[in-house]
Amino acid sequence: MGHDIKDLSLADSGRARIEWASRHMPVLAMIRERFREERPLEGLRISACLHVTTETANLVETLKEGGAEVSLCASNPLSTQDDVAASLVKDSSLGVFAKRGDDRDAYYAHIEGALEHCPQVTMDDGADLISTVHSRKRDLLDGIIGGTEETTTGVVRLRSMERAGELRYPVIAVNDSNTKYLFDNRYGTGQSTIDGILRATNILLAGSKFVVCGYGWCARGIAIRAKGMGAAVAVTEVDPLRALEAAMDGFLVMQLREAAPWGDLFVTSTGNTRVISRDHFAAMKDGAILCNAGHFDVEIDIAALEEMSTGRRLIRDEVEEFELGGGKRIYLLSRGRLINLSAAEGHPAMVMDMSFANQALAVEYLARNGTGLNNVVLPVPAEIDREIARLKLQSMGIRIDTLTDEQERYLASWEWGT
Ligand code: ADE
Repeated sequence: MGHDIKDLSLADSGRARIEWASRHMPVLAMIRERFREERPLEGLRISACLHVTTETANLVETLKEGGAEVSLCASNPLSTQDDVAASLVKDSSLGVFAKRGDDRDAYYAHIEGALEHCPQVTMDDGADLISTVHSRKRDLLDGIIGGTEETTTGVVRLRSMERAGELRYPVIAVNDSNTKYLFDNRYGTGQSTIDGILRATNILLAGSKFVVCGYGWCARGIAIRAKGMGAAVAVTEVDPLRALEAAMDGFLVMQLREAAPWGDLFVTSTGNTRVISRDHFAAMKDGAILCNAGHFDVEIDIAALEEMSTGRRLIRDEVEEFELGGGKRIYLLSRGRLINLSAAEGHPAMVMDMSFANQALAVEYLARNGTGLNNVVLPVPAEIDREIARLKLQSMGIRIDTLTDEQERYLASWEWGT
């Protein structure tokens, strides 16, 4: 298989880090062992568009152990770990098409590179691969039995395709599995976003005024962790139910226009576009720091910030300063791209273990059932979700109680009352 990566000589460092991640992915390791024996994916061609990280390396190597032929491209231009890409090519002979810092053309050329081997299964994080297949690569559609989708934004896009009658093969919404979003979105994004902010800026969070835009599962993880670091946290929302939850979880809840002059640091995690825009920039105080933890770089209106600014310069690797006149400066982290993967390494392996166990088992499910499924967005089967929770607990050495026969009967009855 072909490849296009930055530097093959980085492979050794990539391999050591992949092995480190693998120590923290015990559930995936169990699946890998079984795949090695049973080879359930024998000959299956998979194209994956995921963040090229040490955790992803463990996933694609698991798929390979199951017999699949895997090609990999990046799902974000700034998240690629070039040493990991090198190791996957050198040590595992995978077709990897990704370089950190790819521009838009290179990013899409790499997606097409990963599609060169005519996949039967697609694996996405954000639906860029699926949307490429459904637009410029429609000749591939007939050969594809199904796909998987890792993230909330991707699932939202796929449901739009399904509603419009455009979805041409079944896709399993890995994101919506309990063992994915309750852990990866909340604790993974929570920790790795704080990690990204700290690596980028080295600021003290204790005592800071921290604004989180959104209160979905990712945003609530960020808010909890920021509070735990001693920040005063305000949440902005458009959904009344979520706003109410945020208020009762103990956060300040306010409109973004109120939060704009209040906050020291703003993190977007809404999945929507132009959440922080011109009027907010104008109202912010000197020194405000902005970053994004949503999948796409559309949440902060960077074009407006550029238009409003009289000068800009790079202050640190991931910190850009925008001068807004009158001595006011605003700081944008990682060009508004996913802060946790651009300035840090994404979610820790311990949580990606469950997300990628869902991915591996979803692909196995497609391999066994794909041709019989409808062209809709499907959940990960509930038995798989529960089994992953069971295995994760086992790997953590945690044992739980079981229902007695009497309790089973009680739960199944309706006659007993007051
Ligand atoms: N998404 C968030 N964190 C990730 C990681 N570490 N690897 C792959 N995808 C991710």
